Amino acid sequence: MEYKIQGKSEVDDWETLILLYNSALKEMGTKLEILNDEFQHIHQYNPIEHIKMRVKTSESIVRKLKRKELDSTIENMQKYVNDIAGVRIICSFTSDIYRLADMITNQSDIRVLETRDYIKNPKSSGYKSYHMIVTVPIFLSDSVYDTKVEVQIRTVAMDFWASLEHKMNYKFALDPPEDIKKELYDCSLMISELDERMLKLNEEIQKTARN
Ligand code: GTP
Ligand code: MG
Repeated sequence: MEYKIQGKSEVDDWETLILLYNSALKEMGTKLEILNDEFQHIHQYNPIEHIKMRVKTSESIVRKLKRKELDSTIENMQKYVNDIAGVRIICSFTSDIYRLADMITNQSDIRVLETRDYIKNPKSSGYKSYHMIVTVPIFLSDSVYDTKVEVQIRTVAMDFWASLEHKMNYKFALDPPEDIKKELYDCSLMISELDERMLKLNEEIQKTARN
């Protein structure tokens, strides 16, 4: 999907483009670290288990544009590739995912362009995760650029599953045998149940510990 960037007009060279996306990841990293520290201070636990970040490689950006039948221009990259900067936040519990999504949404300089809740509506493969496309303002010497970041928030268990599913798709060149797909789908159901039980157990522990 195409999104209009509200801030300053887009950049027109590759080096500045990559500088922007790297800066956007730094900004998001700092914001998340602050939220995690504040949460620790108030609730005595960290909602974030760990964070992974990456800037998409040029090859991968070009491949994506080709798939969309678009020319590899700097303009098209900014308009049509929403995941050049990607942050993956891994949490312990499903409740932490929604808490973090809310905290990100409530930051006044962050604009949420899109959310996709694959936890409430898992993909047919069994994939679960909470996705957001946001922009963060990046202040360069000449102006402010609203820069897109794809945020994926998931539990440790969901991340474990997605890694194996990704490996399977890679190994079988996106055409895995049905029995393996089925087994993986069954595992996704077990993971959902595990996440639910761990959440309930954690609530039980918190309640008991307070008494
Ligand atoms: P892409 O073009 O692949 O980026 O997907 P999209 O624009 O349709 O957006 P979507 O929210 O579906 O997926 C964005 C990203 O989430 C992907 O690039 C993957 O990193 C991850 N993802 C989405 N679906 C799956 C899935 O079924 N399995 C795994 N392992 N990862 C997925
Ligand atoms: Mg992607």
